[in-house]
Amino acid sequence: MHATACDVKVLEHLALTDTIRLMTTSWPRRDKAPKAGQFFMLRCWPADVAPVLSRPISVHSYDAAMGTIQFLYEVRGKGTEKLAALEPGDTLSLVGPSGNGFDVESALGKRVALVGGGIGTAPLYQLAKELNAGGTKADYFCGFRDEPYGVEKFATLCGKVQLATDSGRYGFHGFVTQLLNPEEYDLVLCCGPEPMMKAVAKLCEEKGVTCIVSLERKMACGIGACLGCTCKTTTGGKCVCKEGPVFDSKEVFGA
Ligand code: FES
Repeated sequence: MHATACDVKVLEHLALTDTIRLMTTSWPRRDKAPKAGQFFMLRCWPADVAPVLSRPISVHSYDAAMGTIQFLYEVRGKGTEKLAALEPGDTLSLVGPSGNGFDVESALGKRVALVGGGIGTAPLYQLAKELNAGGTKADYFCGFRDEPYGVEKFATLCGKVQLATDSGRYGFHGFVTQLLNPEEYDLVLCCGPEPMMKAVAKLCEEKGVTCIVSLERKMACGIGACLGCTCKTTTGGKCVCKEGPVFDSKEVFGA
């Protein structure tokens, strides 16, 4: 599917924590419906104004009936600071949906665990929605440094919901990997910091369970043209923006 450029309106913009924002925008292109694990390049500043690069942000939730997309993102740099200043009624540019996304079809009917860390939990909500719509209730494991966000809305979509925090202020005191028993699942779908995903992948490999991960990379073009987002795989370098961001963990962490 080719990425589409579209100027859209901000409909709602909420601060969930000091640095986490939930932005709802219009998405009038129903013929270009995003799926779980895909992302858009977001921009609300002119091409000749720094930062040069647009910001790749995954789809947190897509509502086809309403024609809206939600982006859950962390403010951590010039681009996201500009995005964070947007108010309802403001306009921004979206280019996408881009990337391969998760293969939801092949996960349906299986015992599935979703494992997310920090802002890596963002795409897992759309994933949980699509799995649920297909009759599969995944279990959800999430880890945060301290203050969790967006956990409660997984409750109706998922079976078990388990929370870990590094600080121990909420949920289990420790790493999310300590809560996960991969042998209870056919498939583990994971998004978060790379050390966490590597740890999850290792646990899965030890138990012979397939682990699918969504990688994050800095991106320039977002369409596979600049090779700026290449990752090493067992079959050579691949563009995270076009051939990913979703890969079998053995392909990217076994490389
Ligand atoms: Fe240009 Fe991926 S960002 S190839």
